[in-house]
Amino acid sequence: ASDERDDAFHAIIDADGRIEPRDDMPDAYRRSLVRQMAQHAHSEIIGMQPEGNWISRAPSLRRKAILLAKVQDEAGHGLYLYAAAETLGVSRDELLERLHSGKQKYSSIFNYPTLTWADIGAIGWLVDGAAITNQVPLTRCSYGPYARAMVRICKEESFHQRQGFEALLALTRGTAAQRAMAQDALDRWWYPSLAMFGPPDTPSQERTATHTEQSMRWGIKRFTNDELRQKFVDMTAPQADVLGLRIPDDELRWNDERGHYDFSDPDFDELFRVISGDGPCNEQRMAHRVSAHADGAWVREAASAYAAKHATAQQE
Ligand code: 3HC
Repeated sequence: ASDERDDAFHAIIDADGRIEPRDDMPDAYRRSLVRQMAQHAHSEIIGMQPEGNWISRAPSLRRKAILLAKVQDEAGHGLYLYAAAETLGVSRDELLERLHSGKQKYSSIFNYPTLTWADIGAIGWLVDGAAITNQVPLTRCSYGPYARAMVRICKEESFHQRQGFEALLALTRGTAAQRAMAQDALDRWWYPSLAMFGPPDTPSQERTATHTEQSMRWGIKRFTNDELRQKFVDMTAPQADVLGLRIPDDELRWNDERGHYDFSDPDFDELFRVISGDGPCNEQRMAHRVSAHADGAWVREAASAYAAKHATAQQE
């Protein structure tokens, strides 16, 4: 019977169809989706911290309103993705426990500090730009709830990317000091943004193999990490020219034969160090997250008490 169930699953995958929550699916497929969707949700929630750091110090009311809207969007993306992950049979509490205990991770990029206002522009332009490059293919992911969540999230990410680019454009058209601040932000955020796409496709001997092959067979991942990294560089390099900023990579140049930019890879040793907890802000991010969760316990208790009272009132 289980072979038949797996056959039904593979028939849907082979026809490039959608797997829905009630469909039979191999445990490994379910586990890998919980892993990826939960870590995606964790990334959105933790990602609110570096950006939130500048809400009270935005240079104008307009920039403050935009940043508030963006951080609020990230919270919404997190809740959307937790809800989509819950369709696979895990609870919100379980997923948060895995984040708080370090069993599950969040994107390496949020372990870097936001030192100046220009970092907020660089995050919008580069980090949300990388997120769009990585997430548009996920709108075609084989797991229905994840693919559908991505449609709305990608629309909001493009607002995030455009506002970041526009904030940097304002700086690069400003004073020399503002231009220097924008260049400094690009210098610090360029390689960590390339690292967001994950380890290289050809893992070197001591590196763990990636999920890529299996993930592509299941129709979860549609492109490899390096293919998406290349797409991101091809899209972003011309934008840096418009900004009049220099991408900190002497190898970066258009290669006519390949029809792509040649570029230097990020430092993957640094990526693995940051993933394993040794980034500039890992402790601070987790401490802030755990204390915010504790501080919010009374709200959750009050909401569930109200819901319980409300439910019994309805039965009477
Ligand atoms: N940060 C942290 N961990 C990373 C990572 C990164 N940048 N890149 C890879 N990893 C981890 C993987 O999770 C995996 O570890 P695990 O088995 O413990 O989960 C290991 O390194 C090997 O990497 P693989 O490439 O084999 O893993 P995946 O096939 O899962 O690919 C991924 C990694 C491309 C990040 C994929 O999981 C993915 O597409 N996730 C959904 C998108 C996402 O999470 N984006 C986060 C960006 S932040 C964001 O979108 C917020 C926006 O508002 C800015």
